[in-house]
Amino acid sequence: MNELKPEISRTEDGSDSLFNASLNEFYHSKYGAVTESEHVFIKSGLYEIINDNSPVHILEIGFGTALNAMLTLKEINKRQLVFYTAIELFPVDMEIAQKLNYCDAGDMKFYHEDFLKMHQSEWEKEIDISQNFKLKKRNIDLLTFQPEANCYDLIYFDAFSPNVQPELWTAAVFQKLFNSLKDNGILVTYCAKGIVKQALRQVGFVVKRLPGPPGKRHILQAIKNAKTKNTHCPKKMFHLFDFEAGITKR
Ligand SMILES: C[S@@+](CC[C@H](N)C(=O)[O-])C[C@H]1O[C@@H](n2cnc3c(N)ncnc32)[C@H](O)[C@@H]1O
Repeated sequence: MNELKPEISRTEDGSDSLFNASLNEFYHSKYGAVTESEHVFIKSGLYEIINDNSPVHILEIGFGTALNAMLTLKEINKRQLVFYTAIELFPVDMEIAQKLNYCDAGDMKFYHEDFLKMHQSEWEKEIDISQNFKLKKRNIDLLTFQPEANCYDLIYFDAFSPNVQPELWTAAVFQKLFNSLKDNGILVTYCAKGIVKQALRQVGFVVKRLPGPPGKRHILQAIKNAKTKNTHCPKKMFHLFDFEAGITKR
């Protein structure tokens, strides 16, 4: 992947995304960046683990715009202590981050300073973004990243799609992420492509296909040692479809 600067692009729900011209790939769904992040990472990931008061440890693959981190901070809303580690090989410039419209309107305005702080915070150090949200950004390649074992409750797997970065969606990568999760830990991703499901299952995950956000039939939720966990999805939120996922690009 070369290092062309990404450009800001508006998505259909009015929220911004970035477009990487060298890969011809968006950072989010063109049908709605915030809508997608809330559906995939917050409702299908975070909601599954915030049911008691213990601290939560989250790992994000592909920090990018910090949208997932910011929505996580907003959703947790001081209820629980969050240790959020994010890896990113090509950090977004501050000049671009400042123009993103995620905190421009409504309740989100309240999080504007936290959002900027996330981008400004030093790499490789644990930084207090708020009283209960600690962020550690790692400027590292997923391929060489060696996460600690049995450490995370939840992984947001938000790499560019396997169409453009197939090397990031392999069993070898998922094996180290599986090892880094605690028992009953969850990995969520927007991509429900067959080879991704297969690679996740190969390393021991129990994989569930859930309905996707607008424009995408399915997403994946992968659970480590799921036998002991009740991972039902609230019926009001998800209605399983009976056809195969077809869309693999954003
Ligand atoms: C789909 S975008 C990120 C979306 C991000 N979560 C957001 O909401 O903006 C994928 C991200 O992975 C980063 N990336 C690409 N290759 C990587 C690698 N080998 N290791 C770590 N990060 C990588 C990209 O720079 C990009 O920021």
